[in-house]
Amino acid sequence: MLVIIRPDKAVASIQAAKLVADQVRHKPDSVLGLSTGNTPLATYTELIRMHRDDGLDFSNVTTFNLDEYFGLSREHPQSFYSEIHKNFLDHINVRSDRTHIPNGESKAPAKTCSEYEDAILAAGGIDLQILGIGRTGHIGFNEPTSSLASRTRLKTLSDETINDNSKISGDIPEVAITMGIGTILEAKKILLLAFGESKSNAVAKAIEGPISSSCSASALQMHRDVRFILDEEAATELRHRSYYDRVVEQTKRYAPELLGITND
Ligand code: GLP
Repeated sequence: MLVIIRPDKAVASIQAAKLVADQVRHKPDSVLGLSTGNTPLATYTELIRMHRDDGLDFSNVTTFNLDEYFGLSREHPQSFYSEIHKNFLDHINVRSDRTHIPNGESKAPAKTCSEYEDAILAAGGIDLQILGIGRTGHIGFNEPTSSLASRTRLKTLSDETINDNSKISGDIPEVAITMGIGTILEAKKILLLAFGESKSNAVAKAIEGPISSSCSASALQMHRDVRFILDEEAATELRHRSYYDRVVEQTKRYAPELLGITND
């Protein structure tokens, strides 16, 4: 695991965008896993800028969103469908038939969920998954006690998540469709972004705690290519901070591409 701690969210988001852009340039038909929430917004803004100013081309990219509230129409302003379109997809040249978001209006959710898994497989699997983290340590909507082997399914949201998310967007459903932890772990690369003091406890548990279903992000410790991109505030509860900084220094020397920088 590479733990990259940057001075603030703006700098961290530009670095995250650079890593996503490197992925798309290196493999133009990349499959990207997208997250909603506030955390990745500045990264999406920078990717939109790179598309506009630097010609970053998404025309062969496929996307899969992590999750969607269950019971909201696509057009509902609080749906993740609306959110990801408004904040990212509508501003780049991705083909609409290559964007995928779980159908929150499905009348047959179990079938919808297994078809979502099939579509990810048919696309060749996710090359790069972007994640945020909830205060309960969840990734996607994999709330505490989610099986570490879980697949895309309906999940009941915790009280804490309902409170957090309704503060941002008003009343929300109590149930969502989410990729499972097992689904997420199959992505070839994972970038988890976390900013702000409110995430510091979840971040410390995810990186340094035991692997446990009580913090679903801790399952990322089993992934072989995961990068955590944090601001200073989200890193405050990490016990081995100086070690992570030294690892990043050495990575700059020997494998700068892992950080989204080049030495030449
Ligand atoms: C929701 C989403 C997660 C997201 C989390 C954090 O619960 N399902 O994917 O990471 O919120 O949201 P925010 O980035 O707004 O803090």
